[in-house]
Amino acid sequence: MVKPEVCIIGGGAAGLMCAITAARRGRRVQVIEHARQVGRKILMSGGGRCNFTNLYVTPDNFLSANPHFCKSALARYTQWDFIALVEKHGIAYHEKEAGQLFCDESSKQIVRMLLAECAEAGVEIVTGCAVQAVQAMDGGFRIDTARGPLDCQRLVIASGGLSIPKMGATGFAYELARQFGHELVETRAALVPFTLSGRPLQDWEDLAGVAHAVSASAGGMSFDGALLLTHRGLSGPAILQISSYWSPGEELLIDWLPGQDAALALAAVKRAQPGLDLAGWLGGQMPRRLAQRLAELSGLPARPLGQQRDADLAALGRRLNAWSFRPSGTEGYRTAEVTLGGVSTEAVSSASMESALQPGLYFVGEALDVTGHLGGFNFQWAWASGHAAGQAL
Ligand code: FDA
Repeated sequence: MVKPEVCIIGGGAAGLMCAITAARRGRRVQVIEHARQVGRKILMSGGGRCNFTNLYVTPDNFLSANPHFCKSALARYTQWDFIALVEKHGIAYHEKEAGQLFCDESSKQIVRMLLAECAEAGVEIVTGCAVQAVQAMDGGFRIDTARGPLDCQRLVIASGGLSIPKMGATGFAYELARQFGHELVETRAALVPFTLSGRPLQDWEDLAGVAHAVSASAGGMSFDGALLLTHRGLSGPAILQISSYWSPGEELLIDWLPGQDAALALAAVKRAQPGLDLAGWLGGQMPRRLAQRLAELSGLPARPLGQQRDADLAALGRRLNAWSFRPSGTEGYRTAEVTLGGVSTEAVSSASMESALQPGLYFVGEALDVTGHLGGFNFQWAWASGHAAGQAL
């Protein structure tokens, strides 16, 4: 291997963006990736179409123990910068919903674009080569790779988080951070489906595949969007979003009729259509099977609304707006889109991503304790943090 000035461990979104930015500035850069190909998560993202950024990126779309940390990088490499790159490469894209931008054709186009940029800037990419250990030396680092040792002046850790181990995720960034004295913020699977068990699972599992627009709340946050019932529990965009705010053991509240005061609505329907029953009323606003199940679980006697007690309808209305689930857990890193927590930002520069404890060491992307909402925000963080380090290297 030729001796690079900069070595980047991890050829994902953040590592490749960092490599392109540094190499364009004249640095000799090598990316070391242990999988056989770079950008595997990009390839499988967005259902194969890569939700590569969002039109409405703000620091509020990110979770971190230090919510200010992400601001500088996000401001210096914005969604518009990435969109300009995508347009420069003639990649057609569209807004799906809520500012989420997807490729019209395939996420392969984003990987091809990044590889073309790497080639043009002279980045060397080594795949199928895991980094096993790192040692600080005078004026740089010695890296032990599966193909032998390698020396470099600066080292970027872009090896991501723990989500989807089958695709090459490792805890390497955390081990290395600890080795150099960095604190870790406790990690947890996020943007992940919930599992149910026991009675709640029995109540819902046969409705697997049924979806409905809800508002999901936990940990002081709420998200509107689709809820999808699954064989194991709950999924869908609103559920994935709220999973980042939920703590094990906590209650999850589902508003089955968002934007509607169900108690008032039931009182009005009782007067206007006394012959209608609960399943019939709900069935006008959601899939029939879901309406039927909610009616069964409501505990109300099976008779028309006109014959229900006002107090029972009021209580049921409140419940429909805040239906309680107590998930037994989540599907974990096996299916999680991201890892919450990670390398603490305390001892990392928000301007350059450089370690305050070990000069010449940088952390970018998901490895850091910065986690985006669903909708292209995690890639935008990868692009922005990679770019910030690339500018500083
Ligand atoms: P990333 O994990 O992408 O890259 C790290 C790289 O380091 C990997 O290639 C890994 O193999 C390598 N590596 C690890 N250990 C190593 C070692 N010891 N030696 C060498 N290499 C090593 N986000 C979004 O904004 N829009 C979307 O549409 C989606 N969709 C999506 C779908 C699915 C299924 C998942 C799992 C995730 C998403 N995401 C997403 C999240 C997004 O993919 C994620 O946030 C970024 O890929 C993070 O980029 P990084 O470069 O930081 O890590």
